[in-house]
Amino acid sequence: MPTDSLRTTIAGLTMGSPVMLAAGTAGTLDEMGEVLDFRDVGAVVTKSITAEPRMGNETWRILESRVGMLNAIGLANIGVDAFIEREVPKIAAMPTKVVVSIAGWSVEDYVGVAAKIAEHAGVIPAIELNVSCPNVHGGTEFGADPGALRELLAAVREAANAQTLIVKLSPITVGTPNSIADIAASAIEAGADALTIANTLPAMEIDVESRRPRLANVTGGLSGPAVHPVAVKLVHEVYRRAARELGTPIIGAGGVSSWRDAAEFVLAGASAVQIGTASFADPKAARRVNAGLSKWVRTQGATALSELVGAVRLD
Ligand SMILES: Cc1cc2nc3c(=O)[nH]c(=O)nc-3n(C[C@H](O)[C@H](O)[C@H](O)COP(=O)(O)O)c2cc1C
Repeated sequence: MPTDSLRTTIAGLTMGSPVMLAAGTAGTLDEMGEVLDFRDVGAVVTKSITAEPRMGNETWRILESRVGMLNAIGLANIGVDAFIEREVPKIAAMPTKVVVSIAGWSVEDYVGVAAKIAEHAGVIPAIELNVSCPNVHGGTEFGADPGALRELLAAVREAANAQTLIVKLSPITVGTPNSIADIAASAIEAGADALTIANTLPAMEIDVESRRPRLANVTGGLSGPAVHPVAVKLVHEVYRRAARELGTPIIGAGGVSSWRDAAEFVLAGASAVQIGTASFADPKAARRVNAGLSKWVRTQGATALSELVGAVRLD
């Protein structure tokens, strides 16, 4: 069980541990309960839920890469109506918090799903918006376009009622005119209560014998150890340039497999972390991370992890 020093509140979402399970890597809802004790995680983020059920992409759609994992699942999920009918009734019995991830291709898609999820605010305290989907009207990802993101958030904010609204940003802004801090500032201004940084990094691998892309979808998203330093830098940048001043909590995601990875995110400015890829190798990783973080808080002379948020020394 996590110690009291790890209690974490993200914009009204109170959690016993700052370690969460990342969207799409922990099943639709409670499947991980077969292999870990849910009391070890602060929250489970569901698979991204869309307005209609989706089969997702052809296989291969998830691969082990030399430096992590490559996936192009294509948002396979049961759709919001089946999620509410089959999964929501199980939530009350889960000894952890549940955050529902939602995705879509238009503002209407997101609003429709958010409104249905908001009806269950009693057991779903927070929504995480996956904004890494291309806008069917504009072509670019919602998360790469401050204007589209503002419009999306204003609409979802209204639909989501009093639920904590977490916006999960894409690292796709690397190399584009909008820095992730600009995108983050737009998200906060438009109603994001918290930010998850970041989703997978666009990537591709090719089998040199067959000369074919390894993923059926040709390209996909890279996760795991290779993306960790990239995500730490993005958290550092957003914390210093947007979130700290506005008091917006950040959740670090990308390559967390040990307590040191989690501690790095905390020092860069994250109040909580998510574990995704590491769960495939060690589903109980959260327990190790909790134990290591508790010890680290003590050895740093702090009484709570929150005292170390953003405490990287730059002198
Ligand atoms: C197989 C797989 C499926 C994923 N599905 C989703 C998803 O449905 N929605 C989402 O927002 N992120 C999804 N992600 C991204 C993760 O939630 C996480 O942001 C990313 O993998 C980085 O963390 P990690 O390195 O700890 O895995 C997925 C990642 C993987 C590996």
